[in-house]
This record gives sequence, C-alpha cells and structure tokens, in this order.
Amino acid sequence: MSRTLVRNIFVVVIVAAAIVPSRALAQTSLSPVAPRREVVEAVVREAYDKFRGDTGGKNADYIPYLAQVDSKLFGIAIVTTDNQVLTLGDVNYSFSIQSISKVFTLALAMEELGPDKVFQQIGSEPTGRAFNSVPAVVDMPTHTGNPLVNAGAIATTSLISGKDADEKWNKILAFYGKVAGEQLKLIDDVYKSEAATNTGNKALAMLLAKYDRIYSEPFDSVDIYTKQCSVGVNASQLARMGATLANNGVNPATGEQVIKREDVPYILATMTMAGLYDSSGGWAWHVGLPAKSGVGGGIVAIAPGKGAIAVFAPPLDEAGNSVKAQKVIEYVAQKLNYNLYSPSSVGLK
Ligand code: DON
Repeated sequence: MSRTLVRNIFVVVIVAAAIVPSRALAQTSLSPVAPRREVVEAVVREAYDKFRGDTGGKNADYIPYLAQVDSKLFGIAIVTTDNQVLTLGDVNYSFSIQSISKVFTLALAMEELGPDKVFQQIGSEPTGRAFNSVPAVVDMPTHTGNPLVNAGAIATTSLISGKDADEKWNKILAFYGKVAGEQLKLIDDVYKSEAATNTGNKALAMLLAKYDRIYSEPFDSVDIYTKQCSVGVNASQLARMGATLANNGVNPATGEQVIKREDVPYILATMTMAGLYDSSGGWAWHVGLPAKSGVGGGIVAIAPGKGAIAVFAPPLDEAGNSVKAQKVIEYVAQKLNYNLYSPSSVGLK
C-alpha cells in the first residue's frame, strides 16, 4: 500500500470518528440542552430518596380540610415540552390546586383583556408580605399588588367576563382543563371547608372595593375564587399545566395553543417575582425558575422550552410553600442545570 493511500484512509477514519457521535447525539435528543431521559430519571429518584423522610413543615390548617390530608403523601412529576412524562410516588392523588390556580386565571384574564389592561388593573409588584396580607392592600400604590397574592388574585378573577357567577366559574374550570389537557373537577369538600372559613378573603375583597380595585360584585368574586382554589389536580396534571407554559402556551399532549404565546413571558415574570410570596427572592436566588405554590402542598416550576416539574407534599413552611417540594425542585433544577440565570441552562460551559 502506498504511503498516500494509508494517509488518506487515516484521514477518512478520523473525520468519520468526529462526525458519528455528534449525529448519534442529535438523534437521541431534540434539543442540545435537554438532558437525556435516564439522567432525569436518576436525578428524580435521588431527590425522592433524599427527601422522602423529611419531616419539616406542617399542613395548612386555616382551611380545616387541608389539616386532615395525609402529611406523608409525596409525588413528583415531570412533563417535557415533547410530552415525555416521568413520575414517582403519589402522583395519582388529587389535591386542591389552591393558589397555583391564580396563574391560570391570570392567563385567562389576559386572553380576554390583553396584558396591558391586566397590568393596569392589577399590577405586578412584589408585596414582600404574606399571601393574604391586609396591610399590603392598604400600603401598595396599586392596592391589588399582583395577580398571585390573594387580593390581586380575587381582583383578577373579578375581571373574567360572564353573564353570572356560574358562567364565569364554568369558563374558568373549562380553561384549566384545556391547560391540563383533560377535564378537571372541583373537590367539593375542599370548597365547602374554605367557603365556611374565608372571612379574611371577604375582608380583602371589601377593602379592594373601597379603593375601586375589584371589578365585579366582591363576594361573588370571592366565591368563584374559592371554587378555583378547590379544583383537584394530581402531580401529573399539574406538571402538564406547567409544561403548557414551558411550551409557549401549547399543551404538549393535545397540541392546542391554549395560552397566547405573547402572554407567556408576562406570566413567567409574575411567577418569578411573586410565585412563592415573601420567599420568592430566596427562591430566585437558589433555584432560578418561575414557580407557583399552593397551600394544598403543590408547587410547579417551569423550565422554559424544556418542561415543568410538579411536586406534591402537604407540609408547608411559614410562607405557605411546601417544604419537600421546594427541596426536590431545587435539587433537580441544580443537577439538571435548569437555573435560567445560569449560562449552562442554554448549554454554555
Ligand atoms: O385563599 C386562600 O387562602 C387559599 N385558597 C389559597 C392560598 C394559597 O394557596 C397560598 N399559597 N401558597
């Protein structure tokens, strides 16, 4: 064999070796920054094992029903923007969505009125106070604060159009169903329990009326809001609702554009700023993902373009956020480089 032939064969082998692995990688992964399924599975399993015995926090008890929910329930679900579903633990248990509903009523209000009107009528400033704070309503220039605290959320619900309270409620429930990709149902016992004890929210609604910052009959608005908080979801359904946001408003299971693409950044910005109430700053610092918690024990976090992780575990910290859910999401987000503010979230070293 001539020296030239040997050299040419050598060059071909080197070039082929350089090309083949990158093609193989491209075939197994839709996005250069999406982690492989086995990697995600391993990390979720690690988080589940690490935190399942954590006994920190306490169930919400100001809504009597929530105090009786089994504190040991623990489920994790991830839904990706290409509709891969990964679940572990108690993912079929239907818990009340609570404040996580506020995100989706905000989305519906923007569908109906557009983001500018919603921003003008509700605002999007952090309160730095508890989610049900009365002083925040008095002190904040907008009074409503933002759509994710109780006062701002009740005002956001009051923006939804309809000939009567039933029509508004049915519209909200149907909208949540489209975001989840399947019909959702009210947990009647949660609704009754909260409706019998929600004097604080009624007071917030009347205070908003004093400032002309509620846009429908105040007690009707509180009642619809109480129903929206009592909608049942399991961890998988909640993860799919989050994945719809991660997927620019298109439900990854049904392919339907349920939330306008241009509204999604406003929703995610609001979640970053107020999704975990007065601990949103610490959450942004440690995790770097838009998220929303509910006193039912759920938290959903969004990795834009990639997917969403939902965790359900009832015991809450002082701010009203699930202790285990925060730990799991922080762990998974860190291991998978999901932090939006980190260059590695877009594949940069
Ligand atoms: O209005 C309330 O107090 C409850 N329905 C919802 C509060 C809530 O979920 C706060 N979240 N962490």
